[in-house]
Amino acid sequence: MLLSSVAEAMFWTGRYVERSQALARVVLGYERLSFDLSASRKLELGPLFALMDRTPDAASQRDRSEALRQLVLDPDNRSSVLGALLAARENLRVARVVAPVELWTTVGMLVQQLKENAPGSEGALLEALEATLALGNRFEGERQRSMTHDNAFAFLEMGCNIERADMLVRSIAALTPVLSPAGWERAYDDVRWTGLLHAIGLHSAYRRHHHHQAELPRLLALAMSDTSCPRAVAHCLQVVQRQLTHLPRARPVGEQLGVTLATAFAAGRSAEALPRQPTAQLSEQLARLSSTISTCYFPCEEEVQAPPLAATRPRRSDPFEHLTKEHAYMDRVLRVLGTLAGVAGEGTPIDRTELRTIVTFLADCGELGHHEKEESILTPVLAAHGFDWYDGPLAVMRREHRQEHYFIQVLTHLASQRNEWSRDDARNFVGVAGELIHFLYSHMAHEEHDLFERAARTLPANVQAALCRSFEELDARQGPLAAESRAAMTTLLEKYSTQGALRSAS
Ligand SMILES: [Fe+2]
Ligand SMILES: [Fe+2]
Repeated sequence: MLLSSVAEAMFWTGRYVERSQALARVVLGYERLSFDLSASRKLELGPLFALMDRTPDAASQRDRSEALRQLVLDPDNRSSVLGALLAARENLRVARVVAPVELWTTVGMLVQQLKENAPGSEGALLEALEATLALGNRFEGERQRSMTHDNAFAFLEMGCNIERADMLVRSIAALTPVLSPAGWERAYDDVRWTGLLHAIGLHSAYRRHHHHQAELPRLLALAMSDTSCPRAVAHCLQVVQRQLTHLPRARPVGEQLGVTLATAFAAGRSAEALPRQPTAQLSEQLARLSSTISTCYFPCEEEVQAPPLAATRPRRSDPFEHLTKEHAYMDRVLRVLGTLAGVAGEGTPIDRTELRTIVTFLADCGELGHHEKEESILTPVLAAHGFDWYDGPLAVMRREHRQEHYFIQVLTHLASQRNEWSRDDARNFVGVAGELIHFLYSHMAHEEHDLFERAARTLPANVQAALCRSFEELDARQGPLAAESRAAMTTLLEKYSTQGALRSAS
């Protein structure tokens, strides 16, 4: 099992890393082509803004280096090269429990080298883009070699491939009109054609199939429907299709994937000189594919509004779905705690009543509700069905609950301190909150992977139904006692939800 927020973060990590790579390749290829054509005139950068879903503003129309800065170095635009990498890093932070450290290191290096090396001359920026592409290849290698090919990998892989397909379609739509001039400039057609192929990463593949024949229909056939070319849309969609076979509830995504694949093959057969219409249709289908994945697998904001823990009722008699839903709610609580720690880490005082709300919720609903279900109800049943009480996942779970209790006590002490926090108190809070967050994500992942999955396979259906009833009875008993802390937590989540702090970084 995988927390849906972690799955979403993996998916968007893939999308943002791939977006940064595709845009870096296009800008680099386009600029090199501009150098090659400089005998005539430099190419306008305006058409590349379509890759960021933007139109160039007045400043970037006046000043070519400002246009380059906006395309590459704008940290506030998640579709610029740097902005996409920052967004990837943000998502990877949410997914750190399942993402190998090699991915984190590589994305950190990508951000750092671009921030440090790109500002300055145009030459420095182009060199930094080359280094970005080299590190991007390293990310791809680490992704394939360092990650277990499990559900988390499936979401990362789907994100990468949907974005790769989408950026290819957008790049072709944006670049082909610019690279098809009329009149005397046709003399440079072969230079322009080579530049286009480099910019979209299809130079080698196209040359391998068609040598030096420069024909747009051949390019479209390769880019859209050649399943043997790893950058082609059809190939990317087949990768998504393979990953879907590992995931539950994949039917709606599979159906949309079929429609998208059919649209890609149709676009590949298009004979239009400027492929605006087929690429627009394909872009639309790819966007639908992405949103179908979101709808199927990622939680929506309404979950924040739903009554937490005790009042949550699983639709089926599945005790592990019941516990996993409580984990998903805990994920949102931890995001608020992370936001508070981030504020304190920047030296700004936090509202300690908010911290009190969180620790009270962790004690009343986490320890007396959720832990009680796991330790007093689930554990004896599992022990009776062959699980080792003293060793393995059950023992790890109990030990980790004791450890969690220690963290909560430290935070409770800090939250209820009468005096203003000293600098050391604030530093202590940031450290303990960070450790608790990391610890709890890891704990929930252990339970879901090592305990719930095996238990769901082992326990007979009638035993699972009885567990559900016991959970609900405990909720009914605990409900009135914990009502106040639940209500306060719901209000706090709504506040941070409104501020956007609870959304995944998509
Ligand atoms: Fe637990
Ligand atoms: Fe748990």
